[in-house]
Amino acid sequence: MNINRRAQQRSVEIVSNKKIGAYHHMVFAVGDMALHALPGNFVAISVGGPGSSMVLRRAFAIYRTHDRGNYGGTLELVVAPHGQGSRWLTALPMHATVDMVGPLGTNFGIPTEPVNALLVGGGYGSAPLFGLAELLKENGCRVDMVLGASSAGKIYAPLEGKRAVNSMTVTTDDGSAGTKGQVISVLPGLIERYNIEIIYSCGPMPMLAAVQEVAQKFGIIHQCAVEEAMACGIGVCMTCVIPLRDANGEIRMSRSCIDGPVMDGANVIWNSKGEIPKGTVGEPHV
Ligand SMILES: Cc1cc2nc3c(=O)[nH]c(=O)nc-3n(C[C@H](O)[C@H](O)[C@H](O)COP(=O)(O)OP(=O)(O)OC[C@H]3O[C@@H](n4cnc5c(N)ncnc54)[C@H](O)[C@@H]3O)c2cc1C
Ligand code: FES
Repeated sequence: MNINRRAQQRSVEIVSNKKIGAYHHMVFAVGDMALHALPGNFVAISVGGPGSSMVLRRAFAIYRTHDRGNYGGTLELVVAPHGQGSRWLTALPMHATVDMVGPLGTNFGIPTEPVNALLVGGGYGSAPLFGLAELLKENGCRVDMVLGASSAGKIYAPLEGKRAVNSMTVTTDDGSAGTKGQVISVLPGLIERYNIEIIYSCGPMPMLAAVQEVAQKFGIIHQCAVEEAMACGIGVCMTCVIPLRDANGEIRMSRSCIDGPVMDGANVIWNSKGEIPKGTVGEPHV
């Protein structure tokens, strides 16, 4: 697998930056980069400005794109300001520019026939699911969504996003919105009620692993966007490798920035705990 062939590097202008709950909804004027982005792709942004010691780009899943309007093409992100780089980015004013590479990585596959799809998002992991929901609806699918977070302020569910789905279920760990508990607790009921045929997910790795267990139990296809720490975002540094079973059944350490982030959940070796599983191709012998 190679870097996304549609990727470009651009200096892009921030045309909107609004705080919404725990997140910042940021819009960038990206020109024709918007034409090439698909749900599941991400961008890598340089943070800290010229001369900064923050040399690594930060990865962000693309929330939505528009290829028309006052600014030409625009690309939207939902950013949680928690570390140094993301805090720098969300503090930028309108009209500031940042260096962006995108679109990067793989995208969610769209079924050729209309199916019943369940979209599962954890925290800002809901961001790429709204564009996906719109695309699935255009293709005649029924789309149900589950969003989970620790508390109400960390659920990102804009009004227009809610309109794009047939039903929206919310769970919070502290019960401040929706059902108290984690997304996993509501999945079996929703799968049975809506006769779900495919699950798409995005969020923290432990949540994705738990979704895969449920998908496997029900014999449902599960496409997930993994969120492994990334340093370069373009396949060079090997920071983001995770064990993945290939078409021949062999386990290979694969780069989630170019072989992913969207992967077939059944192919990911979820219980590797950061280690290289026994039998992995190229496993070091000590
Ligand atoms: C595919 C993908 C999609 C994402 N989408 C979103 C999104 O939509 N919204 C959002 O808010 N966040 C998203 N993130 C997380 C976002 O990239 C992090 O917030 C960001 O990397 C952390 O940066 P920071 O500046 O906040 O923290 P800092 O602490 O300043 O930076 C941490 C930096 O160190 C790197 N790093 C961390 N662990 C390791 C390691 N073990 N080895 C090497 N480098 C490491 C990180 O990649 C990052 O560059 C996504 C991450 C990925 C991988
Ligand atoms: S982040 Fe560098 S290879 Fe994936």
